[in-house]
Amino acid sequence: NRGFATILGSVLTLVGTFVVMWRMSPLLALLSLGVVPLLMMAILRYAGRIRRETAALQAQESDVLARASEGLSSIRVVHAFGRESHEVDLFRREARESLEANLRLSMTNVASTLVVGTLLALGTAALLWVGAGEVMAGRMTLGDLLVFLAYLGMLYSPLEQLSYTAWSMEGAAAAAQRVFEVLDTPDDVPDPQSPARLPAGPGAIEFQGVGFQYARGDEVLQGLTFRIQPGESVAVVGGTGAGKTTLLSLLPRFYDPSTGQISIHGIDLRNLAKQDLRSRQALVLQETILLSGTVQENIAYGRLGASFREIEIAAQEAQAHEFILALPNGYQTQVGERGVMLSGGQRQRIGIARAFLRDAPILLLDEPTSALDATTERELLDVLGKLMSRPTTLLVTHRLHAAHRADRILVLEKGRLVEEGKGEELLRRKGAYWRLWQATNG
Ligand SMILES: Nc1ncnc2c1ncn2[C@@H]1O[C@H](COP(=O)(O)OP(=O)(O)OP(=O)(O)O)[C@@H](O)[C@H]1O
Ligand SMILES: [Mg+2]
Repeated sequence: NRGFATILGSVLTLVGTFVVMWRMSPLLALLSLGVVPLLMMAILRYAGRIRRETAALQAQESDVLARASEGLSSIRVVHAFGRESHEVDLFRREARESLEANLRLSMTNVASTLVVGTLLALGTAALLWVGAGEVMAGRMTLGDLLVFLAYLGMLYSPLEQLSYTAWSMEGAAAAAQRVFEVLDTPDDVPDPQSPARLPAGPGAIEFQGVGFQYARGDEVLQGLTFRIQPGESVAVVGGTGAGKTTLLSLLPRFYDPSTGQISIHGIDLRNLAKQDLRSRQALVLQETILLSGTVQENIAYGRLGASFREIEIAAQEAQAHEFILALPNGYQTQVGERGVMLSGGQRQRIGIARAFLRDAPILLLDEPTSALDATTERELLDVLGKLMSRPTTLLVTHRLHAAHRADRILVLEKGRLVEEGKGEELLRRKGAYWRLWQATNG
């Protein structure tokens, strides 16, 4: 903004001054403009450099921040493996490159100022040379020449202003460009132009020939076709890397299938607004993420505006109530980075309470009991068993006795559905599920 005002002011001064000079001596006036083409060349040349170097500096500075934040967030691993000096070296290298980028930009600034100054000084010298000749030839008085020189100063200083402003705007434009690059990162799963509305109540979930691959890589899911009835509880089992988490993350549309389609209530998920779709789902992630704040706030994250009583009930169902009461400030205890560090199993139960509180028609659970001891797990599964008869539940688990309670089990192997049915039935079949059962219980 200031930039544009400066440019406008400079241009007006330039034109006015030039008119006055022209009336005093057309020859000298034209001569004084002789430096302008050179000045233009310098502006363009340095503008490109300043833009490139500013962009490089921005990129390098985000690398420094990324390095620092990564090193700090994995500080335990760094200590445990004695890699402190290695991390410091990496950081130092990034910081040095940032320093160099800074110096390069500063040098360019200095050089450009120098070039402009020199050009203008040369222009003044040339004018003085010719003007002195004019005075000696008697075509001009000395007084006129002095006045003319004063005007020359008024002509050159806006030119100088203009070049600096042009460069600082280049720098600002380069910085802004980076901001827009980040803002313009395309959304992988765009909302439809005119989204359909999800009807109320639980609907059937249907997978039809669903295949999926991450941005680069092999097919992680292939040809999945199955249907989950409203209110049904389905367990997904299979070896590590079989694609269970991937399958679950297709339902809130963290990703869209590469082939085939998924529908709820008979509506293709791609025709639904993500917000609408996700408001019908409660998700427990394989790794529970706690936000800094109190335990109560962390559970209430599932449904803002829930009453304290509702939060307590959800915590009880998630087998979390007792350990929460044992914390220094109970439900008001601060957790996360700046508070009490909770154990993996405690975090997991807060994640489950959060999902229970949400009370959504579709419940998605990814390994909800992996960090719990056998007793706590059994208690939680009992609650889940009661709960599973209400919302439509998709439970991913390695624990086969947890899967066994579900209405139906889907067995995934390398992204393919190899078996499906009730637990007992699958055991009798002596197929993939039976082999998993043997491996864990044998
Ligand atoms: N974000 C990602 N980008 C690329 N590939 C991924 C990504 N997440 C998972 N994969 C790959 O997809 C495959 C399936 O991963 P997925 O996390 O779905 O397995 P899983 O069945 O949940 O395993 P686990 O039981 O260990 O949790 C793996 O080969 C994995 O390497
Ligand atoms: Mg997983």
